[in-house]
Amino acid sequence: MRYETYCVAIKGQRVHMKTIIITGANSGIGYVTAKELAQDGHHIVFAGRSRERNEEAMEALKSELPDAQLSFEPLDLGSLQSVKEFGDAWAAKGQEIDILINNAGLAGQQGITTDGFELHFGVNHLGHFYLTHLLLPHLKKDQGARIVNVASRAHTRVKGISFDHLQERTRTTSGFPEYCESKLANVCFNRSLAPIVAERGIHTYALHPGVVASNIWSRLPGPIESFVKLFMLSNEDGAKTSIYCARSPECAKDNGLYYDKCRTKSVSKVVTPDLEKRLWDLSMEWCSLTSFG
Ligand SMILES: NC(=O)c1ccc[n+]([C@@H]2O[C@H](COP(=O)([O-])OP(=O)(O)OC[C@H]3O[C@@H](n4cnc5c(N)ncnc54)[C@H](OP(=O)(O)O)[C@@H]3O)[C@@H](O)[C@H]2O)c1
Repeated sequence: MRYETYCVAIKGQRVHMKTIIITGANSGIGYVTAKELAQDGHHIVFAGRSRERNEEAMEALKSELPDAQLSFEPLDLGSLQSVKEFGDAWAAKGQEIDILINNAGLAGQQGITTDGFELHFGVNHLGHFYLTHLLLPHLKKDQGARIVNVASRAHTRVKGISFDHLQERTRTTSGFPEYCESKLANVCFNRSLAPIVAERGIHTYALHPGVVASNIWSRLPGPIESFVKLFMLSNEDGAKTSIYCARSPECAKDNGLYYDKCRTKSVSKVVTPDLEKRLWDLSMEWCSLTSFG
């Protein structure tokens, strides 16, 4: 189906309807982000790996906002082939994109992707790196298009990226160091991406959503999960910085910055041009790319 860009009337006001792709919109922070932006009258594409879970989430959203414009596109970020299929399907639509929100993520797991990358690195970073490359030609040029990368303050908890262990199964039992490194990769990616997208009049953002009581903690033992969630932000509060980066006029001119609580924040001192370049070059090689976007 092709979704034309047009104006819709909300509360008597004409609103430019945007096309917004959100990865991992069926749950947690992504779901609330989708709901809030759908409320503005935009078309939200739920990009996710389970049709069933995404359709269930879209139905729940529709029960609150019957006029919401929603659609689902299959995307498993743990498979570069699946990401490629998503990109090909999008190219076939010929539809321009206003906002790409790289939100999906997992934490505290052990595993390896179908392409042989450590699970957190493969899904949280490499899948989104490749997806952004494939979608960049479809992002509107010089019209304020945005890319939002949901990173984490957890990126400050590590001293670097263990490049020698990215092509093997998660080594630690907790998976926490690997998660932190994948979020450091999100921050580095956002910074490297900024000059590339700036040439096309596109802006990119990275952010920490807060510590949020989402499904990301579901691997914790039940009683511990319930207890720690008492001290966390709601998904509604956790989505605020993503929504700010996606639509606020205040940050419309920013590019490549990192946000926490809807304000810019400095990134970890371990983020250096050398680290950014090494990650970029390896990501290009692992996605078999010679040029980006
Ligand atoms: N919650 C926090 O405290 C916190 C703190 C800092 C940063 N973050 C970041 O916030 C983002 C959203 O997480 P959340 O807290 O809202 O967690 P969540 O409720 O668990 O949502 C994660 C989403 O990612 C999707 N996903 C996981 N693996 C995927 C894959 N291989 N392919 C496609 N989609 C996949 C999940 O889909 P399924 O339903 O199919 O699993 C789900 O929709 C993540 O990037 C996370 O790192 C969260």
